[in-house]
Amino acid sequence: MDFRKFIFACAAVAFTAACTSVPGGNADREMDRFISGLMDRMTVEEKIGQLNLPTAGEITTGEARSSTDADRIRRGEIGGLFNIKGYEKIREIQRIAVEESRLGIPLLFGMDVVHGYETVFPIPLGLSCSWDMDAVEESARIAAAEASADGICWTYSPMVDISRDPRWGRIAEGSGEDPFLGSAIAAAMVRGYQGSDRESQLTEPGQMMACVKHFALYGASEAGRDYNTVDMSRQRMFNEYFEPYKAAVDAGAGSVMMSFNEVEGIPATANKWLMQDVLRDRWGFDGFVVSDYTGVMEMVAHGIGDMETVSLRAIEAGLDMDMVSEGLFKYVGKGIEEGKISMDVLDNACRRILEAKYRLGLFDDPYRFCRPEDVENLVFCDSHRAAARRIAAESFVLLKNENSVLPLRKGGTVAVIGPLADTRSNMAGTWSVAARLDSCVSVMDGLKECVGDKVRLLYAKGSNLIGDREYEERATMFGRTIPRDGRSDAQLLSEALATAARADVVVAVLGEASEMSGECSSRSDIGLPDVQRKLLKALVATGKPVVLVLFNGRPLTLCWEDENVPAILDVWFGGSETGHAVADVLFGDVNPCGKLTMSFPKNVGQIPVYYAHKNTGRPLDKGKWFQKFRSNYLDVDNDPLYPFGYGLSYTSFEYGDVVLSSAEMSSDGQVTASVEVRNTGSRKGKEIVQMYIRDMVASSTRPVRELKGFRKVELDAGESCTVEFPVDADLLGFYNHDLEKVVEPGEFRIFIGGSSTVSDYAVLTVK
Ligand code: BGC
Repeated sequence: MDFRKFIFACAAVAFTAACTSVPGGNADREMDRFISGLMDRMTVEEKIGQLNLPTAGEITTGEARSSTDADRIRRGEIGGLFNIKGYEKIREIQRIAVEESRLGIPLLFGMDVVHGYETVFPIPLGLSCSWDMDAVEESARIAAAEASADGICWTYSPMVDISRDPRWGRIAEGSGEDPFLGSAIAAAMVRGYQGSDRESQLTEPGQMMACVKHFALYGASEAGRDYNTVDMSRQRMFNEYFEPYKAAVDAGAGSVMMSFNEVEGIPATANKWLMQDVLRDRWGFDGFVVSDYTGVMEMVAHGIGDMETVSLRAIEAGLDMDMVSEGLFKYVGKGIEEGKISMDVLDNACRRILEAKYRLGLFDDPYRFCRPEDVENLVFCDSHRAAARRIAAESFVLLKNENSVLPLRKGGTVAVIGPLADTRSNMAGTWSVAARLDSCVSVMDGLKECVGDKVRLLYAKGSNLIGDREYEERATMFGRTIPRDGRSDAQLLSEALATAARADVVVAVLGEASEMSGECSSRSDIGLPDVQRKLLKALVATGKPVVLVLFNGRPLTLCWEDENVPAILDVWFGGSETGHAVADVLFGDVNPCGKLTMSFPKNVGQIPVYYAHKNTGRPLDKGKWFQKFRSNYLDVDNDPLYPFGYGLSYTSFEYGDVVLSSAEMSSDGQVTASVEVRNTGSRKGKEIVQMYIRDMVASSTRPVRELKGFRKVELDAGESCTVEFPVDADLLGFYNHDLEKVVEPGEFRIFIGGSSTVSDYAVLTVK
């Protein structure tokens, strides 16, 4: 028996054991034995090869056998590849690794499956506005079912970076500003990808390994400029930014991706405090750590050394896998020879990669992620698309609905106007690398299908995306084009006005194109692009009722719109089924229920504006927006335009008083906070009930309130229900100056309501 066959024979036994036993038990011992046996046979070069994650290079052309990368695979110089699509290509590359390399170690195949695979769900920021953990988990499960059949065993998701700066383009990829909600979503995503039963994660077909990113604090880059410097206190890190990463680790995430930015003056990619002290020692993470794309190499530009120095610093600090830079590949062997790093450092990193492969069952069956039948039956199938449609509608946030302009009646004439109305390729939103762009449902497609011949639909483009042609080019990449109209702004506008004149109501479909948010898509002015705002103003001036259907990957500044447009529906980027979901909501087949997970600033100068801010020593008096020598601005109040947790429905809800099961609690006790919620409108609807807590006095300053519970309830017209939240030490605690989680006695205010501005509370005294 050659060695390759030998390792598969061992693995078959080991993997079966892994499927049936508890972590830390027999299965882990089997794994250790298997991997130690394998590593005993590996050369230093082969071990280093495991740490190497290059881009797919020529392999993406399908010429795997003759490409340079294929030779590198044969030589054992590669541990995994990423962003290759298609099980046939992947199977062939895997075959080379398994059959033509000396030890036959299978490769990892990764991809950014961020919010769906071919069936695309709303961008994560939109998805978070559903506040629906079942929906979040389901979207990840479907993404995993599709991707893992098509060869992918590892996704670079969830992205859990908290951000309070809507200028930052990658805000679209995360879940907004709040660590409590962000943690719940992070855990739900991991369960969706890897399986919800912690003990059998990754053993079933349809599951793939998650990679939590970007550790850490990437969303706090200065001025919202991508890749920029980050600096903050450790106390803030622990209380406001770290929790979602930890939640994903606690849920079992198999890998973590380091962020591009520096943390406390040391790039995350070589930051031992992050990788070792926090991630492994404090949180007990036992998976592997990968750099972000060229993260190792970028430390040269960060200015902490040449390629050799930064590569050795990275592995020494705890980095296991190097995405693209080839720094570990080139310098670790030399570092060991020269005694700069120990063999143990390499062994640990190599072992963690092999463990991931083992846990994924790749030693048992290296082709278990290539399942043509499932590709045929599952990818972009009707039931996945139906889920995408339902979940997209749950993510929409109704920001304004004066005089109940919405829902529209299915009759009369509707003018659909705007550069986003008739584009399919922009519907999926940023980071949807496997999307079938042509099969996405545009707003026009969806409306036509929904209304049939009951409504006369008229269409006009109205304006280009952006007046400045060069800016428009930068903002429409990766095939997400909106062909520029050769007509002048005036011609486009006059056609739009003539179209509006023939209609009973105008649906203006405006906002950002897909690639105006996402990586390296920061904006310093986050209003509607110039030509679009002009168009909107002209449409409103016609006196026809105008509904603004807004596409955006970030909060926008919308003061004029809020004052002047009767109805605004924020649809983010809803994924493959956007157009259907938009039609469902506009015509009232679905009652919108999303609530914001990021505050919308009134202007860019207010940023960062977020609900869980500190009180300061000079807060404003209640009800005031300016007082001399208080913390405020001369020209704008401190409040956001739309607060965190806000969102309307076609019905209305009323809240009763907050009731506590006991007004006192010991610091390790538990009480129940409850409230009655009534649907006071005339149609069925869902309400997201939110609980916030304020710790009135503590040894460190505490935010004016923090989200500590939420429930989504559905009520018929006139129906009411009691919503209960458990309140325990964990919810009341915080990380003190020594970074210990503590509950300090004293008064806590418990608020329950429909947004972060709720004012009713009950007082809980912790003894
Ligand atoms: C991004 C990551 C992504 C990686 C691989 C990087 O540019 O920052 O989020 O996972 O590329 O595609």
